[in-house]
Amino acid sequence: MSEKHKLASGARALLAGAIGVLTALAVTTPAGAAAGTLGAAAAQSGRYFGAAVAAGHLGESAYVTTWDREFNAVTPENEMKWGPIEPSRGSFNWGPADQIANHAMSKGMKIRGHTLVWHSQLPGWVNGNMSAGDLRSAMINHINQVMGHYKGKIYAWDVVNEAFADGGAVGTLRNSVFTQKLGNGFIEEAFRAARAADPNVKLCYNDYNIDDANASKTRGVYNMVRDFKARGVPIDCVGLQSHFGNPPANYRQNIAQFAALGVDVQITELDIGGSGSAQADAYRRVTQACMAVSRCTGITVWGVTDKYSWRSGDTPLLFDGNYNKKPAYNAVLNILNGGSTPPPMGGGTIRS
Ligand code: XIL
Repeated sequence: MSEKHKLASGARALLAGAIGVLTALAVTTPAGAAAGTLGAAAAQSGRYFGAAVAAGHLGESAYVTTWDREFNAVTPENEMKWGPIEPSRGSFNWGPADQIANHAMSKGMKIRGHTLVWHSQLPGWVNGNMSAGDLRSAMINHINQVMGHYKGKIYAWDVVNEAFADGGAVGTLRNSVFTQKLGNGFIEEAFRAARAADPNVKLCYNDYNIDDANASKTRGVYNMVRDFKARGVPIDCVGLQSHFGNPPANYRQNIAQFAALGVDVQITELDIGGSGSAQADAYRRVTQACMAVSRCTGITVWGVTDKYSWRSGDTPLLFDGNYNKKPAYNAVLNILNGGSTPPPMGGGTIRS
C-alpha cells in the first residue's frame, strides 16, 4: 500500500471511529448534556420512558413520529388483553398486538405486556358458567400461549391486574370470576404459571389507587408482595398505574417501601388531569419520586396525545391534540435530565 493510500485508509478509519463515537453519543448523551427527548433523558439513568399505544392509530404519521421520537418503551393499550387476544377459546388474534410489538422491536424499545389475568375486557367465553377446573386450565393455557408467543420480546408482564378491592378490610380482593371459582389463590397460581411459561421476563402485579403509602388498598398489595417474597412465589415488580389528579404527598415513600421488599417498581399508566403549571408540577413530582428510588425502573404514560386518551376530557397527557409539547412535558424532561429547578410555567414562560 502506498503512503498516500495508507493515509487515506487511516483517515477513513478515523472518520469511521468518529462516526461510531457520535452515534454512541447520540444514543446515550454525554454526562452533563441535556437529552432532548423523554426516552433519551430517561436512559441516562438506566430508565425507560414509555407510552401506551393503540394499533388503530398507527396509520397517523404524527402519532407514530411522536411515539418514535420521544419514547423508548411501549405498552399496547388494549391489544394484549384477554378479550382482544383470545376472543374465542384457543384461537388467538395476534395481529394488532404484533403490529405494536414489531414496530417497537424495530426501534429497540422495551415492551410491557399488558395484561394476562384481569377481571375486565375478558372474552365472553370466560365466565361464571365454567367449572373451577375449566377456568384454571383456561387461565394457565392463556398464560402459556400468550407468554410463549412473545417470549424474548417482552421486558415485563402485568401478570395480574387490579385484583384488589377499593374498599373493605386490608387485603380484600375484588369479587370476580377468578375469586369466585379459584379463590384468593388465583393470583399466586397465575404468577407461578407465568414463571414456568417464561423464566426470563419480569413478572409484575399492577393496580390503581395503590399510590398512597398508607391507604388500605396499598397495604393489601404490600402485604401480598411481602408474603410472596417470603414464600418464594415469583414476583419481580409492582406497577403503580397512577391515574390521578395529584400524586399523594408520600408517593416517593410508597415507591421506596415496595422497592425495599425486593421488587422493581414501575409507574405503568401515568396520566394526570389538568393543564398548565399545576399539571406540570404534578408530573414533576411523580418523575422526581421515581428518580429518587433506584429500583423505580421506568415510567409509562397512558397514551401519546390528549386527543386519544381514555380520559381525554381531562387532557391528562404530555402532548396536546396537535402533538405540541405541554408544560408538563418540559417538567418531566427537566427532571429526567437531572434538573431540580422549577419547570417552565404555563404558557411556556420561564420563571426567573
Ligand atoms: C383502558 C384503555 O385505555 C381503554 O382504551 C379501554 O377502553 C379500557 O381500558 N387500567 C388498566 C388499563 O389497566 O388497561 C385501562 O386501559 C385503564 C385502567
